[in-house]
Amino acid sequence: MTPLGPYLEAREIFFYAATLAAVVLFIVGLKRLSSPATARMGNRYAAAGMLLAIGASVWETNAIGWWVILAGIVIGGAIGLFSALKVKMTAMPQMVALFNGAGGGAAALISTSEFFVAVFGRGSDALSLNLLVIVSLVVSAIIGAISFSGSIIAFLKLQEWMTGRPVTYKGQQAVNALLALVIVALALVIMATIGGVPWYWYVAMLVGALIFGVLFVLPIGGADMPVVISLLNSFTGVAVAITGFELNYQLLIVSGTLVGASGTLLTILMGKAMNRPLTNVLFGAFGSTGGMEPAGGASGGGPQNIRATSAEDVAVMLSYAQQVVVVPGYGMAVAQAQHSVRELADQLEKKGVTVKYAIHPVAGRMPGHMNVLLAEANVPYNQLYDMDDINPEFPRTDVALIIGANDVTNPAARNVPSSPIYGMPILDVDKASNVVVLKRSMRSGFAGIDNPLYEDPKTSMLFGDAKASVDGLVAAVKAL
Ligand code: TAP
Repeated sequence: MTPLGPYLEAREIFFYAATLAAVVLFIVGLKRLSSPATARMGNRYAAAGMLLAIGASVWETNAIGWWVILAGIVIGGAIGLFSALKVKMTAMPQMVALFNGAGGGAAALISTSEFFVAVFGRGSDALSLNLLVIVSLVVSAIIGAISFSGSIIAFLKLQEWMTGRPVTYKGQQAVNALLALVIVALALVIMATIGGVPWYWYVAMLVGALIFGVLFVLPIGGADMPVVISLLNSFTGVAVAITGFELNYQLLIVSGTLVGASGTLLTILMGKAMNRPLTNVLFGAFGSTGGMEPAGGASGGGPQNIRATSAEDVAVMLSYAQQVVVVPGYGMAVAQAQHSVRELADQLEKKGVTVKYAIHPVAGRMPGHMNVLLAEANVPYNQLYDMDDINPEFPRTDVALIIGANDVTNPAARNVPSSPIYGMPILDVDKASNVVVLKRSMRSGFAGIDNPLYEDPKTSMLFGDAKASVDGLVAAVKAL
């Protein structure tokens, strides 16, 4: 009984109030992330929620010394700050993979430490194992370990520290299925005996899960990588939520569920945008199977009949147009050309040209990549059009100005059944009266395939770094 009798102590009231406030901030923050207009604020709300959550947890805990917690906060905070400041926008997927892996690894480590403390009976805070605890512990250890090692492989692939292509071998799926069975069998025995098996059974299960994470991501490659990162992200969310059950800690349950649910939704959305069912992503080995057309390879040297153009010619075309649709892609992000693009649009609008932006859901390398960049350059949100809204506009568009985009404009997705991107919804730029493509060379995009658009008689190519080319266009339009 506390001084307040059957009621909560003041510190508990503070703890629960802070927990509730953190949860509300997470939910409101997440909701606000859904529009570019409110996303920045949403991020701040979520960050404030996290600060509150950490503060409340530290306040409530008496498990370990302050200095350990402080060291964790300082090291984690420094890594977070460094990454946020230093990592380029185009390297964001790798960073998400690493952070995500850290979350999964943390869940697995917590479960492992709880298991050993419970089994060897040391420490005043040892969990007493019952069915709910052992089930949560085992499941979160497995999912967390898969997410950890899978995310590391995803990071290595995206960072190009290992091949980005699918790594496949004969009998691969049988090996994976067998390993999964062994892990499940070990897990069932540990659960059924409530941890009453020798400790190395648990270690074998954990190592099995780590190996499974590696094997599971190896055959995934190419354009499927961001999808698998989002999937692993949802795994981490689930692992963290289950750890919440294990520790009877509501904050982890809610925040893990939010991550798990949003990761799952994002995975589904990305799959839809690329027309790749999840089973294809996981077992289809993007680009390694029949029909892969290496750029400049299978068709004998890549596109043949292309027309190079100059900034001056394009400036005339743009200035006399009624409607120009800008199609940004990964190359715009690499060149950091968004501010110049905005300036070009301003100049054209001064001449009475209507400028719209066509945003393909997987343009760039992460969801919302183009929206973030264009918002940074203060492009008005009402000029950004989703694929479904802009596609009917192309037949009445004078110029489709493609800035560093490739795969998302590739008509092979519509009419070459053997193409690896066949069926992926694309921007119908080839229906515009004129198409101008800004890129540096005839190299392929992320999917590694030729783009027949470049041979279309109404297409002209303006070669060069996207920022330099757009700056050239701004100067040429101004000079007219
Ligand atoms: P890509 O198809 O990758 O094409 C980008 C083009 O930009 C390249 O052809 C490259 O040609 C050019 N480029 C690179 N640096 C440049 C620079 N500094 N200046 C000018 N041009 C430059 O890009 P996309 O059309 O945006 O398509 C995105 C791809 O990523 C798709 O395959 C998509 O499936 C995949 N993907 C994206 C996501 C998300 S969520 N965004 C998720 C999964 C997969 P040069 O080298 O000749 O310059």
